[in-house]
Amino acid sequence: MAILRSSVVGPARPTVKAKTVYAEHMESIVLFGPPGAGKGTQAQRITESTGLPQVSTGDMLRAAVAAGTQTGMEAKKYMDAGQLVPDQVIIDLIKDRIQENDAVNGVMFDGFTRTIPQAEALANITTVSHVISIEVPDERIVERICGRYTCANCGAVYHDSFKPTAEEGKCDSCGGLEFKRRADDNADTVMSRLEAYHTQTSPLGEWYNSKGIFHVIDGDRAIDQITDDIIAALK
Ligand code: AP5
Repeated sequence: MAILRSSVVGPARPTVKAKTVYAEHMESIVLFGPPGAGKGTQAQRITESTGLPQVSTGDMLRAAVAAGTQTGMEAKKYMDAGQLVPDQVIIDLIKDRIQENDAVNGVMFDGFTRTIPQAEALANITTVSHVISIEVPDERIVERICGRYTCANCGAVYHDSFKPTAEEGKCDSCGGLEFKRRADDNADTVMSRLEAYHTQTSPLGEWYNSKGIFHVIDGDRAIDQITDDIIAALK
């Protein structure tokens, strides 16, 4: 398998599609959970059914780092240390992103929001109808993250043990032959990312819970079962 070390390419953006299988009341969705919980994996599946574009702040930041923009240069030091990037940097990225045409029917946020200031800023610019919290015990996280790789062409997410490609070295989704691993997917950085999750992001669950839009999903099961539960929560 060809593995690239860079993390330049994010998932291809889907074109705008009508919402098909979900309720009228569905607007934007937030996928919430610790690093390695399966947010990106599930986002790629759910976006096919909902037509909502996946908006991953992690992917946007990695693209900015790769492009060498000022935002990327500022974000890199936080990402390398496993810390959250400052709220205003993230909020500015999202404000720009949701102006794009494919966001007109709502968006599936992956890894955003992560703090109460981010959630308050989002509430001022769009309506969130569902927050899906994928919960996985800390002891599962390191093995998930350290075995992750993605297709360098389309961004499909794989795992050395838990979700390898069907044909070795060939992406199931697009047939791509090159794969990459993220610079922050190492055991040391994962511990910092988990700490940031528990201290800064986890309290946001209570905030959303108080608004009655918070759905807890057991993420320590087979990928298909988790997808089914998310779909049920969105109906
Ligand atoms: P980001 O890119 O968002 O990383 P993360 O939140 O740490 O989440 P991951 O992408 O690592 O995991 P995931 O939940 O998507 O899991 P995946 O589906 O890949 O953020 C990176 C950095 O950017 C942050 O540390 C921060 O610095 C910065 N940042 C980003 N957003 C920010 C924000 N809003 N505010 C501030 N800073 C921000 O799955 C993981 C692996 O497990 C894969 O290999 C997959 O195949 C496998 N897997 C998935 N589901 C299962 C399952 N059910 N069983 C077994 N294996 C599974």
